[in-house]
Amino acid sequence: MMLNRGKARAYANIALIKYWGKRDDQLVLPMNSSLSLTLDSLYTETEVVFDEKVDRDYFYLDGKIQDMESTNRVNRFLDLFRDAAGINRFAIIRSINYVPTGAGLASSASGFAALAAAANVASGLNLDHRELSIYARQGSGSATRSIYGGFVEWKKGTNEEDSYAVPIDDGKWDIGMVIVIVNSRKKNISSREGMKQTLLTSPFYNNWVESAEEDLKRIKIAIENRDIKLIGKIAEANSFKMHATMLGADPPLLYWEPETIRVMEIVYELREEGTPCYFTMDAGPNVKILCRLSDAQRIRRRLEQGFKSKHIIVAGSGPGITVL
Ligand code: PMV
Repeated sequence: MMLNRGKARAYANIALIKYWGKRDDQLVLPMNSSLSLTLDSLYTETEVVFDEKVDRDYFYLDGKIQDMESTNRVNRFLDLFRDAAGINRFAIIRSINYVPTGAGLASSASGFAALAAAANVASGLNLDHRELSIYARQGSGSATRSIYGGFVEWKKGTNEEDSYAVPIDDGKWDIGMVIVIVNSRKKNISSREGMKQTLLTSPFYNNWVESAEEDLKRIKIAIENRDIKLIGKIAEANSFKMHATMLGADPPLLYWEPETIRVMEIVYELREEGTPCYFTMDAGPNVKILCRLSDAQRIRRRLEQGFKSKHIIVAGSGPGITVL
């Protein structure tokens, strides 16, 4: 039965092995497989209502009507559900983002995963998690992984049907992240543009892809062994390699700010003092520190000496999509 209305929540994820580049722009097929940790304190809630009374899609984010660029992106995404379910109504979409939008904090991951989960209910399609991750992928690559909680792998696959997410480990152990928001402004170059530029122009790109696949194999073993030092070491190096590849692009892509490096230095200091913690950065200046959840408050206090408390977020491992 078609309900017309669906509401869901999805949590952000932070990649430990990064996705940076597509082999098919239209279908969002990645050049390499990636792996992330879903977080419990950053999420998006979205409601989709297919309504016969509206003459186009209306997209509200945090209560504000969105411009045509964002609305069209949502419109194209909802078309996947409309086409599959034979729905000819437009929709009213209301999203609340509990993640600073466009700050390199994966708001598109929780955003499109929540939208997919809500549209799944509203359209009556009843897709399972695997199918839903294939749909979410076409909204935003990283959204593929936010369908599940804990550690999640996005398999690059061989075609549009077998590039989806699989849960690797539920993350229900002493693991978490401390996020430092260095700058919450929307980034100048979106990840979509940035990865395209890198793939087309960076001489390091092929090496990046090869080395990411190797990192993925090794981190999966480290996760199985719950070896936080090895997980962190591999993740930190993988993030550096992605940024090195970006720096090789023409024009070069530099997402860091001076305070990004300041956080890295604090992480090195903490490590020297015996606290296992490791950083990772995405397409923005913010730093995510992987650590034991039981060490997170201590790490936060250290960071508070140089950063405002409201710019530091502690997160544990989060769940998958939840229908509300
Ligand atoms: O999902 P997108 O198109 O916003 O790309 C995400 C890219 C990174 O966050 C840098 C890496 C990743 O795997 O999440």
